[in-house]
Amino acid sequence: MKKLMAANWKMYKTAEEAFDTAAELVALCGASLPDDREVLVIPPFTALGRAGQALAGNPRFLLGGQNFYPEEQGAFTGEISPAMLLDAGCAFALAGHSERRHVMGETDEMVGRKVAFGLEKGLSVILCVGERIEERRAGQVEDVLRVQLDKGLAGVPRDVDPVRLVVAYEPVWAIGTGEVAGPEEIVQAHGAVRRELLRLFGEAGHEVRVQYGGSVKPDNAAEIIHLDNVDGVLVGGASLRADSFSRIVLAD
Ligand code: PGA
Repeated sequence: MKKLMAANWKMYKTAEEAFDTAAELVALCGASLPDDREVLVIPPFTALGRAGQALAGNPRFLLGGQNFYPEEQGAFTGEISPAMLLDAGCAFALAGHSERRHVMGETDEMVGRKVAFGLEKGLSVILCVGERIEERRAGQVEDVLRVQLDKGLAGVPRDVDPVRLVVAYEPVWAIGTGEVAGPEEIVQAHGAVRRELLRLFGEAGHEVRVQYGGSVKPDNAAEIIHLDNVDGVLVGGASLRADSFSRIVLAD
């Protein structure tokens, strides 16, 4: 299974800035990308077209959307549909990123609708899950993950192609804080995610990739990427510059 190395550019970069960074990323790691890795660039919607142009012709450099609404089309001002993301060249999209949950107020139920609808419409979907610091302190990590996974995956057919489903474990307290989860915390949480995936999907649960996200940097990526049940990373801050993200992509 290929490790999925994803750059979430959040609300940063104009179309031209995204083109330049994506082009530099291909130049820095295109030729030396190990066979077992894929790169996913997730720019803001307005930069999808230009970022896609910079990645074109490199089949293991994929494009993704940060969010979408679970309807075909209609009167949903400010929203974007899976078909629109596919039309813009996306293969993947995020659902339930912690900033969507905690800044925009998305519920587990809404995230679940998105995951099922996005998969049905042909996107590969990354379901983001993760506990808040007070939940960790209260010893509730596994319970929180179980609820987020059960509700997030409730509408997903049991025979879904597992390669099109990804779970990103991103402890909320580690996102954008510089505070990375320790190796034991990551292995424990990823083990819990894997157990739940196996319970929900049977053996196919082994083929669902589980990414870690939260203050991944060039100097901690190599350790994280080799931990049990870590099948990639989802990187925010350290993905904004091509030199920094290329060191994460190639970390070994
Ligand atoms: P960070 O963000 O790498 O800046 O912590 C990760 C994310 O939000 O996906």
